[in-house]
Amino acid sequence: MIDVTHLSFSFGNHLVLQDVSFTLGQGEFAFLMGPSGSGKTTLLRILHGALPLTRGKATVAGFELRKITSWNRHLLRRMVSVVFQDFKVLPHRTVFDNVALPLFVRGTAKDIIHKRVAVVLRSLHLEDKVQVRCEELSGGEQQRVAVARAIVVKPKVLLADEPTGNLDRTLALRMMDVFRQFNRFGTTVLLATHNPEMVARVPEARVLNIQEGRIV
Ligand SMILES: Nc1ncnc2c1ncn2[C@@H]1O[C@H](COP(=O)(O)OP(=O)(O)O)[C@@H](O)[C@H]1O
Ligand SMILES: [Mg+2]
Repeated sequence: MIDVTHLSFSFGNHLVLQDVSFTLGQGEFAFLMGPSGSGKTTLLRILHGALPLTRGKATVAGFELRKITSWNRHLLRRMVSVVFQDFKVLPHRTVFDNVALPLFVRGTAKDIIHKRVAVVLRSLHLEDKVQVRCEELSGGEQQRVAVARAIVVKPKVLLADEPTGNLDRTLALRMMDVFRQFNRFGTTVLLATHNPEMVARVPEARVLNIQEGRIV
């Protein structure tokens, strides 16, 4: 589902990723672990096409990133969901609108949208916030909205960048259980974190350790 070989990446003359190679099969769960500044966010951004792949090769959900056309990039983004470190929810829209949006743009039927959004919001304990505008939520609640929006489409691949960073321990562990449950339904998960407790919560997961831009 994700196949990376000899990927290197620089910002200007600062080499951020060095000769990174790894493969994640369909339905695998992997953590990308490493200290701040080690290149986790950069790698995730390359894998969903937000940064160009300039050296090496990477295939995500069947799309070879180096050769991707803009139409294929559009298709890639339908199969690959991303949870950004800074959530990027729409502040003036309600929780329901934010989570329903990706289903709405896919042309999903209204009754199915309502059903799926309700299930996902319940699993993330946001059922009391359905009609609340996101700007009125705490950081942790907004982060859960971002996760709900990412998983509601049942993506082939889920890339999550420190998704539990703003949550207290109980909520963070609960969120890991939600990811784990989605993974059991077949979504391949790659999750950046520097919290060993989150890693321990998913004993079947692989751990990719990244240090100074290299997988060690
Ligand atoms: N847009 C950017 N321009 C220049 N340097 C960047 C940019 N984004 C990240 N970097 C640098 O790349 C390195 C890796 O950053 P990042 O991928 O965000 O690491 P992590 O997510 O592991 O904390 C850091 O040294 C960071 O300063
Ligand atoms: Mg980061």
